[in-house]
Amino acid sequence: MQDLVSSLNQAMGSSGLGDDLRTVHKVKQLMHSYVSQSDDWVQHAVYHEGARYTRNLVDDGNGKYNLLILVWGEGQSSPIHDHAGSHCMMKLLAGELDEQLYSWPQTDNDSSSSSSSCALELRRTAALRTNSVAYMHDKIGLHRIANPSLTTRAVSLHLHSPPYNMCKTFDESTGVAVQSSCTAQKLTTSVATVNQSYSCSTGFAATDLTMSQLQQGTAITSI
Ligand SMILES: [Fe+2]
Repeated sequence: MQDLVSSLNQAMGSSGLGDDLRTVHKVKQLMHSYVSQSDDWVQHAVYHEGARYTRNLVDDGNGKYNLLILVWGEGQSSPIHDHAGSHCMMKLLAGELDEQLYSWPQTDNDSSSSSSSCALELRRTAALRTNSVAYMHDKIGLHRIANPSLTTRAVSLHLHSPPYNMCKTFDESTGVAVQSSCTAQKLTTSVATVNQSYSCSTGFAATDLTMSQLQQGTAITSI
């Protein structure tokens, strides 16, 4: 994971991801070339029991990007959301995730809320498997990410550049948008401290990681 962070820093330099498609392509390649190994990322895979999926900050990219690890509980999903004009790359580290791609609502949602009353159009659904990478940008549309498994958690690695803390979430049936927080917490507690009496009978199918290896902590959940 540290090698990946170093490579990302080198590829994006002091600018992060902007309109330079060559850099975007290079970063996509780096995300593809990283092979998920649970030993690399399990210390970042904090899961907050009882909440929506958790967001854990791995690296802040010197302010040019955020690298996050999200842990998805069984059957959990995000709301439909945009990406605040940023590039978003998502690599699946373990488990399975489905991506549902939607069109933007027909009305303009520049304000913090919308009076749209049109249902969002679902354009396609894609199944992500371990080590696959998905790219998303507001120019493509909106999406929802969901863990389809009711027995296995999923872990994903997200790169957002430029970084952002607020985005819009959308009601599927009306297209109405609201501003939502999408912050993450950098973990400062040692693994030994947060590894409490957590147990679960299910495990990751795609790796040798067991659920007892996931650390239980206090990462912020939002979207
Ligand atoms: Fe997203």
